[in-house]
Order: sequence, then structure tokens, then C-alpha cells
Amino acid sequence: MTNTPLPTGEEKTRQVRAMFDAIAGRYEMVNKLMTLGLDARWRRRAVADLRLPEHSLVLDVAAGTGDFTRELERQAQRAIATDLSYGMLHAGRQLPRRVQADASSMPFATGGFDGLTCGYALRNFTDLAATFDEMARVLRPGGRLSLLEVAEPEKGPLRTGFRIWFRRVVPFIGSLVSDRAAYHYLPRSTAYLPSSEEIVAMLNASGFSAVNHRRVMGGLSQQFIATRSL
Ligand SMILES: C[S@@+](CC[C@H](N)C(=O)[O-])C[C@H]1O[C@@H](n2cnc3c(N)ncnc32)[C@H](O)[C@@H]1O
Repeated sequence: MTNTPLPTGEEKTRQVRAMFDAIAGRYEMVNKLMTLGLDARWRRRAVADLRLPEHSLVLDVAAGTGDFTRELERQAQRAIATDLSYGMLHAGRQLPRRVQADASSMPFATGGFDGLTCGYALRNFTDLAATFDEMARVLRPGGRLSLLEVAEPEKGPLRTGFRIWFRRVVPFIGSLVSDRAAYHYLPRSTAYLPSSEEIVAMLNASGFSAVNHRRVMGGLSQQFIATRSL
């Protein structure tokens, strides 16, 4: 995938699924190296920001190997993991409830969930607007949404350092310990990501209110929090 145009439509879905199936076994290890373990703290906060009572039913969309799902369980929620890639779900440890599905068309009842999380997957979706519509459909009115996504610091040395890290070091480390094509695709995939303002507008259009965007740790990551409109 390195120098070819980024795929779209069904071809994107096919390539993304094949890529995650291929890197599943080492995904968590590379992820920890890439984020220097900081993502654990970001996930803790993102789950707490759902502000749901204990034992709420929460869907972790594009759950991958389940980092967010396990954090939900740690915070006493009942979590269900869903992902496009069987390989990622299979590699996940301690995932009692897992369902393979495309996030734009999920086999869950309308309004059945109290909360929804999604970590670092928005740029991988083939149809982001349809996926936000589907997230709104499966949440009950008043249900809560918390999304994490990659970001880039706006200026200064942190931005320069981040660019070197994300565009050079991460693909290098990924090539050494996992799949070269996948970790060269990773920085390129941010081209799919709309601006934070556009994402907020899309969430509003899909039926969410009180949509809030916040930059995490100087913009190393970003979080969207919202409530399913009544
Ligand atoms: C970067 S990983 C993130 C995994 C996990 N959420 C985390 O925070 O570590 C992106 C995940 O999105 C999943 N994914 C990509 N496209 C998807 C789709 N259309 N429907 C559901 N999952 C999808 C991939 O299979 C992969 O597991």
C-alpha cells in the first residue's frame, strides 16, 4: 500500500480487514511502543467520561484486540466488543462477548446500548457518516458516546517531534517487529480523517447533541464525547 493511492469503497474495507488480520498478533505490543503506554491513561479517561452508572451495557466499536473493552470491564461496565477483523477479535485476550461486524451495519437492536466507545478507528471506516448514523441507531436516547482518534499537535516542538515520531519512527519500528506495509499505511491513513470541526458537525447530523471535542495531551490524541439526542 506504500506509494499507491489510498483505497476507497469496498476495496478499502477489504484492504483494511486484511491488514488488521495480518498485524493482529503483534498489534498490542506495537501499540504500546508507539504510544509509549500513554494510551492506557487516555482510555481510562475516555471511559470515565461516559459518566454511566455501573453495569451499563456499552458497545466497543472497532474494538480490535480489546484494549478499550477491558477498560470498560475494569470500570464495572458490561462490554461487548465488535470489529470487522476476525483476526483482531481472536487475538484479543479476555473478550467474553465479541461479534465480527462492519461498524456501518451492525447486528444489534435499535436503542439497545447505554454507551459506546471507539478507539483509533474513524480513519479506517469506509463510510464515516453511515457509521455515525449506525452508532446513533444502536444507542438509546440519552446514551453516551466517547471516541478517541489520532491527532497532531498544532504547533511548536511537540508538533515537530510528533511528526518525526509518527511518520518516521513508528513505520520503522512497525517494519522491524510487524508488517512493513501496514505501518507505512498508518501515517498515510490520517488523510482520510476529516477535521475535528467536520467530525463534530457529522455527529450532530447523525443525531448526537452536546458534542464536545478535546485535544488530549497537547494534541497527541483527540477525544469526542456526545449524547444521543432524545
Ligand atoms: C487502530 S485499530 C484500533 C483498535 C482498538 N479500538 C484500539 O483502540 O486499540 C482499528 C480497528 O478498526 C477496525 N475496523 C476498521 N474498519 C472497520 C469497520 N468498517 N467496521 C468495524 N471495525 C473496523 C480494524 O479491524 C481495527 O481493529
